[in-house]
Amino acid sequence: MLKFALFDAREYDRPAFERCSEKYGFALKFFETKLNEDTVTLANGFDGVIVFVNDTVNKEVIDKLTEYGVKIIALRCAGFNNVDLKSAKNRITVVRVPAYSPQAIAEHTMALLLSAVRKIHKAYIRTRSFNFSINEFTGFELQGKTVGIIGTGRIGRAFIEICRGFGMQVVCYDPHPDENGKYNYVPLETIFSGSDIISLHCPLTAENKHIINRETISKMKNGAIILNTSRGQLIDTQALIEGIRSEKIGAACLDVYEEESDVFFEDHSSVIIRDDTLLRLISLPNVIVTSHQAFLTREALNSIAETTSENLRCFFGGKTQNEVEYREQ
Ligand code: NAI
Repeated sequence: MLKFALFDAREYDRPAFERCSEKYGFALKFFETKLNEDTVTLANGFDGVIVFVNDTVNKEVIDKLTEYGVKIIALRCAGFNNVDLKSAKNRITVVRVPAYSPQAIAEHTMALLLSAVRKIHKAYIRTRSFNFSINEFTGFELQGKTVGIIGTGRIGRAFIEICRGFGMQVVCYDPHPDENGKYNYVPLETIFSGSDIISLHCPLTAENKHIINRETISKMKNGAIILNTSRGQLIDTQALIEGIRSEKIGAACLDVYEEESDVFFEDHSSVIIRDDTLLRLISLPNVIVTSHQAFLTREALNSIAETTSENLRCFFGGKTQNEVEYREQ
């Protein structure tokens, strides 16, 4: 029986993966710890590892995995920036779940946007202490506003449809534009200068790290809202904080954060957070942070477990699918 080690296992991962391991006839061991240089020994004796966004799959980890005879790294997520693909090339196969529920992330993005513009996060706190004042809660309407979408892949397109439902004007940027003529592509500069709201839906690459930085923020409309449900490092957080403090940026809604791997997905409510940048960010009244939960719907979890299991079944049956391969830049 094939044996797989699932790292960074959470309560919410278990039901769907347990169902799949029974269905596909795999033995699955859940490890709560993340995969990294210190924990990689746990993978010894397994045929494959199943990892998530904040597991560290660098050269050192890959060297160990191959030494232990582990054949495959199955990402149970779409992004793969945490895997050193160059080290993996020709040594260990890397597969991912390219799409599980773009709608889950797109809907969460809209939930964040609506919360920010209608101050839902603040109203919730006020009414819980029976403060029914609505002072300072004046919002604005989304209808007619321009939203700039960076990345028109599966999630970007799902978010575009939601925005259109709200009567928003949608402009898009993507180095590989969709050719069906359904989207209004403009240069990146125009996204920055012409959007009331900017939403990031591209993968993190060497080229687009800190695509939101001091310079690009300076080009934005006053009061622009930034939405990031993609990857934290797309934004230079210090520059974002400066932009918010100078009131250039109207609000930031973040489901991801540059240094999230040390804090996200864990309960830190009774310890002192050492990350001053995160402390400053969270203390700002027009910043909403969620803890990389945009994907977290029942539908998405079932789909992730199914595709991951199917990826593993195909690989061991000699027909690899959803492989992520290293490409020279
Ligand atoms: P996708 O692969 O379907 O689409 C990505 C699009 O981004 C492609 O059209 C690509 O051409 C474009 N792109 C690449 N580089 C770009 C750049 N520099 N500027 C603008 N566009 C660029 O990916 P999908 O499924 O839409 O996911 C997008 C990202 O969302 C993922 O890479 C991942 O980082 C993030 N994500 C976040 C989740 C969450 O829970 N917060 C869950 C799943 C994905």
